[in-house]
Amino acid sequence: MDVLLIGSGAREHAIAWKLRQSPRLGALYAAPGNAGIAQLAETVPLAVPKADAPQERIDAYCDAVVAAARERSAELVVVGPEDPLSFGLVDRLQIAGIPAFGPAQAAARIESSKAFAKEVMRRHGVPMGAAARFDDFEAACAYVASRAGDVVVKADGLAAGKGAIVTSSHEEAVDALRDLMLEGALGAAGRTVVIEDRLAGREVSAHAFSDGRSVVHMPFACDHKAAYDGGRGPNTGGMGAYSPAPWLRDDVAEAVRREVTERTIAALAAEGAPYRGVLFPGLMITDEGPRVLEFNARFGDPETEVLLPLLDSDLLEIMVACADGTLDRVDVRWSDDAAVTVMLASGGYPGPYESGKVIDGLDDVDADGLVFHAGTNLDASGRTITSGGRVLAVTATAPTIAQAREKAYRNVDRIRFDGMHYRRDIGAGDVAPSSPSAPGGRDPTARPGGWGVRAT
Ligand code: GLY
Repeated sequence: MDVLLIGSGAREHAIAWKLRQSPRLGALYAAPGNAGIAQLAETVPLAVPKADAPQERIDAYCDAVVAAARERSAELVVVGPEDPLSFGLVDRLQIAGIPAFGPAQAAARIESSKAFAKEVMRRHGVPMGAAARFDDFEAACAYVASRAGDVVVKADGLAAGKGAIVTSSHEEAVDALRDLMLEGALGAAGRTVVIEDRLAGREVSAHAFSDGRSVVHMPFACDHKAAYDGGRGPNTGGMGAYSPAPWLRDDVAEAVRREVTERTIAALAAEGAPYRGVLFPGLMITDEGPRVLEFNARFGDPETEVLLPLLDSDLLEIMVACADGTLDRVDVRWSDDAAVTVMLASGGYPGPYESGKVIDGLDDVDADGLVFHAGTNLDASGRTITSGGRVLAVTATAPTIAQAREKAYRNVDRIRFDGMHYRRDIGAGDVAPSSPSAPGGRDPTARPGGWGVRAT
């Protein structure tokens, strides 16, 4: 089976790597791919537009993807990032008769509209914190003033990870509302906002495959969003991840699977928007139980880089089954191992960053080490150079998180580029199973913002 993969990050490199292991895979194409993906797939130079690009640009892009898939006789198109899902690439492929892995536009709204996601959760009793939607600045400010505690201000639309502003006072919340709603800091995505109560607890990422009816859960994963060790510094797209989440109690994990993931997939089917693809609820595990912070309509990044190395089954078979509604016939197995990913970032990231730096040491990693490219390119001499804020996702698997962490950092030490920085505490600290009295395993002495424990 020939496959076209859409996207260019470490998530897509991990997907390409796993698809390559399938005995059913014929040719693999990637649009646009990166230097790492190019070692596994033939790349097609089609850059993915942002969801807020002009409609003519989006239409031209969708037409080009359909043409590229047809020319290459692709029998499946796998859509990695959220932007093409939100502007309906899967719908366009379906109209053209080309099977696709990923939700159609109506179901992808669970990520592309925070307000829609909240309405679905409210209608179907999916646990979440108190929240309200506003498109009027004065009304939003009045709501903030009425809340007893701090709030999180979220842009309604897609904002490339920059759309959730965690505030520590009502003044900060009003500033955030002004930036988004009056000054248009995130363009159209932030003119409508959702204001949520700021929750305390511990974050976890749940992922599941679905064909619209059946649900196959993946192991839980945790990412580290802050730029620097100890959870300090600005938020990033993710500086590393580990899986599983041993601190998550079994009964809480079960509540997430039943009351969040399965209930939401059933809700979308009941509302006429069956969900096919990967559903990824981001959750806060509070003392009162799990609460959804957001839904994502795709694999997480860097969560994918820890999850797919733990998948023992054939990813291509699973993706085909999600697209054609036969997931209940696939036996999906996961390794009992643990995985750790350390993200190597460019100097300056997550602010303005340097690029074009030559990357050394890629050939020196252990034979079983995994290096997924996030932002790389080839220069005129064929050398691998940096081309993004997040550059490489260095992953290792082992029987325990501590062992996987040690292996991953051993390989990190062999890779170099000018300005490279990374966190040294990925998968470190308290990842032990929690005590029965602490639903989320939350360490009551930990500061919000400290390692692994954040308030939204
Ligand atoms: N790691 C969070 C995300 O992919 O949205």
